[in-house]
Amino acid sequence: MRLSAPDRAPGVRRLVACAVLALGGLFASTAPTAVAASTPPTALAAPVPSATAAPDIPLANVKAHLSQFGSIAAANGGNRAHGRPGYKASLDYVKAKLDAAGFTTTVQQFTASSATGYNLIADWPGGDPNAVLMAGAHLDGVTSGPGINDNGSGSAAVLESALAVSRAQLQPTKHLRFAWWGAEELGLLGSKHYVNNLPAAERAKVSGYLNFDMIGSPNPGYFVYDDDPAIEKTFKDYFTGLGVPTEIETEGDGRSDHAAFKNVGIPVGGLFTGASRTKTSAQAQKWGGTAGQAFDRCYHSSCDGTANINDTALDRNSDAIAHAVWTLGTEPAIPPGDVYENTTDVAIPDNAAAATSTITVSGRTGNAPATLKVGVDITHTWRGDLVVDLIAPDGTAYRLKNSSANDSADNVVATYTVNASAETANGTWTLRVQDVAAQDTGRINGWKLTF
Ligand code: TRP
Ligand code: ZN
Ligand code: CA
Repeated sequence: MRLSAPDRAPGVRRLVACAVLALGGLFASTAPTAVAASTPPTALAAPVPSATAAPDIPLANVKAHLSQFGSIAAANGGNRAHGRPGYKASLDYVKAKLDAAGFTTTVQQFTASSATGYNLIADWPGGDPNAVLMAGAHLDGVTSGPGINDNGSGSAAVLESALAVSRAQLQPTKHLRFAWWGAEELGLLGSKHYVNNLPAAERAKVSGYLNFDMIGSPNPGYFVYDDDPAIEKTFKDYFTGLGVPTEIETEGDGRSDHAAFKNVGIPVGGLFTGASRTKTSAQAQKWGGTAGQAFDRCYHSSCDGTANINDTALDRNSDAIAHAVWTLGTEPAIPPGDVYENTTDVAIPDNAAAATSTITVSGRTGNAPATLKVGVDITHTWRGDLVVDLIAPDGTAYRLKNSSANDSADNVVATYTVNASAETANGTWTLRVQDVAAQDTGRINGWKLTF
């Protein structure tokens, strides 16, 4: 149960029912919200942070990056592959743009096939360091061509989304981190290196990774990775708004840099417009283009140059990336909910009548939610003695915890979810704690209801 700082997030209306008589336990840090017992309950309606809509990503800017990648390939033996000078030149180009825009960039080196590989990581200062949203693309290509759709497209669109973050001077709730991976074409090596060298504590902070590999295919499909449902929905919602149907990506799950993240349990998602697979007539009907032809006939070949791009697909997918970065990056860290709490200590007598603590809820309309959260903080030297109920305003009891002869652990610090949808929200709710066995005693430190 988290009963301290996060509960004071903007948008959470707090009602302190009674005075704090003692500051022990987990509720101590909520003391600043305490009011005297005689003070009428204060319902503070804090402003809800409004998520700003993502800006349009200028297609011309994305294409200017692609043109630079094309020139870099042309100047470096026709490719931007791992271990070749065109790769490092591509990285230097992206890094310079990010540095100038105020990102903190890091170049991570690794060795693959006897050559030095490089990942580029760019952190946007600010946001919750414990909730990191990542977006990335592989920056390397195969040796046979300039690698403009695969994957100049994803690299350029992620770069332009990052630059849009800088132009907007976005202040996201999450910490934003953008990444360009090396040696994807050798087996996802750069992204694997990054994830494998990320300490477990750092991995745990990554709330999501968004991957963009081939998003401007010349005969495009609109494919959304079917991984994390919230990420998938964010992308689908964007395309629904455009009136563009999408399909689930099936041309090789795990064939790009999201795989390493997914393997360690990080929620992933992404976009794709198709590689060597053939567009069906049904797909051509809904998306246009040519049925019976590959989504990208120049996949991994010398003709994957700046002409190998469908502008509409690149434009839509670039805007979808920005939409996801803005939507997922600026959503409140704590789901919205109004919190009512009572932080008054109540002694729980040994093997005797129940101790009770009340919270009066007012100003709401309708019934309580089906997922009413009941946060309980009880100190006790043998919690098996305790029967804990929530009593609705009309007297209906909801059992939160039974007694148990063999549960000798201390304390009850837990959040219970109660289906209270049959109860009127307004009124006096009661936490009832009864000690049903002799010897051990304790107290209610406080409790809270989250609507
Ligand atoms: N990652 C592959 C490449 O770079 C392309 C690819 C094939 C792909 N199937 C995919 C990318 C599915 C994303 C999703 O060559
Ligand atoms: Zn690729
Ligand atoms: Ca007892």
